[in-house]
Amino acid sequence: MSDSSEGVSRGEHRGDSRRDNPAVRRLADWDAARLADLAGEYGTPLYVTDLGRVRENCARLREAFPDAEVRYAAKAHTGRAVLETVRDAGLPAECASAGEVHRALGAGFSGAEVQYTAVHPPAGDLDYVVDAWREHPDLTITVGAADTVDRLRERGFDGRLCVRVNPGVGAGHHEKVRTGANAKFGVPYDRAADLVESASEQFDVVGVHAHAGSGISGDDLANHRELVRRMGDLAREISAAGVDLEFVDVGGGFGVPYEEDEPALDLPAVAEATREAIGGIDATLAVEPGRYVVADAGVLLTRVNTVKETPETVVTGVDAGMTTLLRPAMYDAYHAIRNLTSESGDGAGDARETVGATVVGPICESSDVFCENRPLSRPERDDLLAVGNAGAYGYEMASTYNSRPRPAEVALEDGDAALVRRRETLTDLTEVESR
Ligand code: LLP
Repeated sequence: MSDSSEGVSRGEHRGDSRRDNPAVRRLADWDAARLADLAGEYGTPLYVTDLGRVRENCARLREAFPDAEVRYAAKAHTGRAVLETVRDAGLPAECASAGEVHRALGAGFSGAEVQYTAVHPPAGDLDYVVDAWREHPDLTITVGAADTVDRLRERGFDGRLCVRVNPGVGAGHHEKVRTGANAKFGVPYDRAADLVESASEQFDVVGVHAHAGSGISGDDLANHRELVRRMGDLAREISAAGVDLEFVDVGGGFGVPYEEDEPALDLPAVAEATREAIGGIDATLAVEPGRYVVADAGVLLTRVNTVKETPETVVTGVDAGMTTLLRPAMYDAYHAIRNLTSESGDGAGDARETVGATVVGPICESSDVFCENRPLSRPERDDLLAVGNAGAYGYEMASTYNSRPRPAEVALEDGDAALVRRRETLTDLTEVESR
């Protein structure tokens, strides 16, 4: 399974050079027998993360953007094994909180490889990151408000600063993840140059930054291009005012295909359009994808525990829920689902009929649904299901709601599997309480 060439089953490479690193790994490309072994050994629900695929995704990004700095938005998956893999692949880390900075430094990223993007940062985050900067003076802090500049100054910070701009144009797979035109994020576009100029008197202003949103594809690409164009204009205005920028970061957001027949993003074409839209700038272009790096490197394995026939649908209760993978409940996100047991022939019937299955979790909420009336080979109790594209914002958004311990995670590397996050226990749930 870690041999990606096995994953090329749908002709998604456009030439021999892409054969070894296809643009997407579909759920259908994962080896069912191997996944069943892992579920047997480590139990379910179980996240499986293929570090080889993470490496391939990093390589494809770097190949598409050879002159740009490709940073990893760590929020998509902050597991240590993933961070170390990304670091080894040469991508710096973009961190959204003190916790992410803490994880990145712990995983061996140097200060120069850490960009902290402050979003209305709590005091404790600024305290932590400024302390970290004293030890790692090459660390960069991105601010999204003039107010944050003042708070950094009060803490004695005078290092590498980047200004996040609200570009006035957003994009993304769901309203809840479009940041570009949302007043919460960034300094208003027409105030950004002034802030850069005034801040440059006290700080080492090294960059400007904007992020349109997450899961960009199709029509949204035009909005992303517009963001890039605006950032190019801003960078030229700032240069003309005499401030030398090191980089212009146009954010992440590259979409991945969640539906089985959705085409993969043409990354080289997106990269080309980005270069064209930014125009001539006297700074390095930077991008910071998260999802693209890890989404198709992960699957979630879950076992059927209840099958209930109803007039409308076959309600299929599984041991993962919205606390394990929140995306369907939160964004109505589609994730492919495979019944591995019925395929393997170990199950009761090799030739099961296809039924409309509604796959639900054990959480006492009506939003705890992975899919509704999806054609699936008739589920039976103890069947093993695999949920695709679970590597990004999967474990990362897991919670212990309903007092459900979080699942385990196994990482695959060079054909070997290792438990990288143990399953939480009932005791873990109460460990932080003092009475
Ligand atoms: N940079 C910034 C400043 C961001 O806020 C984000 C994502 C990224 C980069 C990376 O975006 P990506 O390349 O991963 O699309 N939980 C949601 C996604 C929220 C993303 C928030 N910010 C989901 O599961 O779809």
